[in-house]
Amino acid sequence: KKVVNQALVIFGASGDLTYRKLIPAVFDLYMNESLPKGFAVLGVSRSSFSDSAFRQKMKKGIQEFAHYKDAKPVKIDDFLSKVFYISIDTQKGEEYAHVKAKLAELESTFQLDHNYIFYLSTPPSLYSLIPKYLYGQGLTLQHSGFRRIVIEKPFGHDLESAQKLNQQLLDFFEEDQIYRIDHYLGKETVQNLMVTRFGNGIYEPLWNRRYIQHVEITAAESIGVEDRGGYYDHAGALRDMIQNHLLQVVSLVAMEPPSKISADDIRYEKMKVFRALRPFTKLDLKNNVIRGQYTEATVRGKQLKGYREEKDVKKTSRTETYVAMKFFIDNWRWEGVPFYLRTGKRLPTRVSEIVIHFKPSPTRLFKQTEGDKGENLLILRIHPDEGILLKTGMKVPGSGYEMKSVNMDFHYSELNDHYIPGAYERLLTDCMAGDNTLYMQGVAVEETWKFVQPILDYWEEDKDAPLHGYPAGSWGPDCADDLIDGKENIWRYPC
Ligand code: BG6
Repeated sequence: KKVVNQALVIFGASGDLTYRKLIPAVFDLYMNESLPKGFAVLGVSRSSFSDSAFRQKMKKGIQEFAHYKDAKPVKIDDFLSKVFYISIDTQKGEEYAHVKAKLAELESTFQLDHNYIFYLSTPPSLYSLIPKYLYGQGLTLQHSGFRRIVIEKPFGHDLESAQKLNQQLLDFFEEDQIYRIDHYLGKETVQNLMVTRFGNGIYEPLWNRRYIQHVEITAAESIGVEDRGGYYDHAGALRDMIQNHLLQVVSLVAMEPPSKISADDIRYEKMKVFRALRPFTKLDLKNNVIRGQYTEATVRGKQLKGYREEKDVKKTSRTETYVAMKFFIDNWRWEGVPFYLRTGKRLPTRVSEIVIHFKPSPTRLFKQTEGDKGENLLILRIHPDEGILLKTGMKVPGSGYEMKSVNMDFHYSELNDHYIPGAYERLLTDCMAGDNTLYMQGVAVEETWKFVQPILDYWEEDKDAPLHGYPAGSWGPDCADDLIDGKENIWRYPC
């Protein structure tokens, strides 16, 4: 991918994302020699920092979070000599003249060729203001170089606000200038889904309602809301994880093969999945969606707070920290195959995985070893220990025909001759190269909101809609097990 000279302008530069993810990712690009010759970063925020104070702070972020965190300090300093900072009041249109002036100044030192990426890592309330004020300074028009805007999640708070935000952005940018980021799509293993499915002859013939019993997708986290209570209490797990990350994963699991690997073809196929999501009926909302909230518990001698005791969370909060749901995709391939999604904070472990449960063989000829369910599962591990595991039955050595499950297990870490880029590193590179394949289209985001909106409405309107407590450190409300059809089937509980 060709990356031309350019500047990365980060709004919200004094925030956590810049410190933990963005600058460390750009530094990793620098170390991999993936940055163009003419390049600079301009951090913009309200807090006041000198360039050198900002660089000092970013150095700490790099030394904690970058892949190359142990790089020699002179290397880090050399990179940081391309990083600048200005403080403006982002709510005031006239202050954007400083951004323009600073870019013009950097232009002469770094030869940026008037190509700019504006990265919005700010509170969402600024997502419509910043584009407007950039436009006011003539900074969105592409007559001299490219202009792109990256929008962090949350993209909208509900369907209506997402539609409105799309509208507002389109007043100042063209759709192909807008990069709606979902960092899950930058994960190597999430991208590998397409390669596994469409690059091999053996999976695709089985990848449909005839051979798959159900699909299970889990994104479990052991941490609580930490210091993000203020944001999270207005969001909840459905908005924070399902509307974006997990539905993106669903689209990659369920999509048809694109006719070629291009942004348009891939995004078109994903869009068809979103359109085919079966809308929840009143009954589904009651029976097929479960929400929970973690409560105080002692885990291995450690006292864990309940959600309502967390900082910046309302004592009476009904925000969900856990969601499990069952739904269907109404198309030829998936008719009748249940999809189960589950996500939560303060679960026993941090794991994200996709589990394809294949149907059993038509007759059970062999005795299964006791306690072994003998399922054929394909597990695509997104995190940790990225890789693929196939569970298949084998004969137990000795007389008779006893059968037991064994694992065919591949770990990405075994590819140790390959550097695995972090999600932000990958996505930033793509944006710098003008490739929006892994970014979300406006219409697709709206489709995902359409799917979850009835759930939000139901929880909002029906005061009797249950919110189940679950002890911190457990696998969530017990009733989540009842979602899964069939006595034999329960969620997979990875350790
Ligand atoms: C973020 C959510 O988008 O994704 C967080 O806001 C969540 O609440 C995080 O912890 C999970 O991402 P990852 O890459 O750590 O699995």
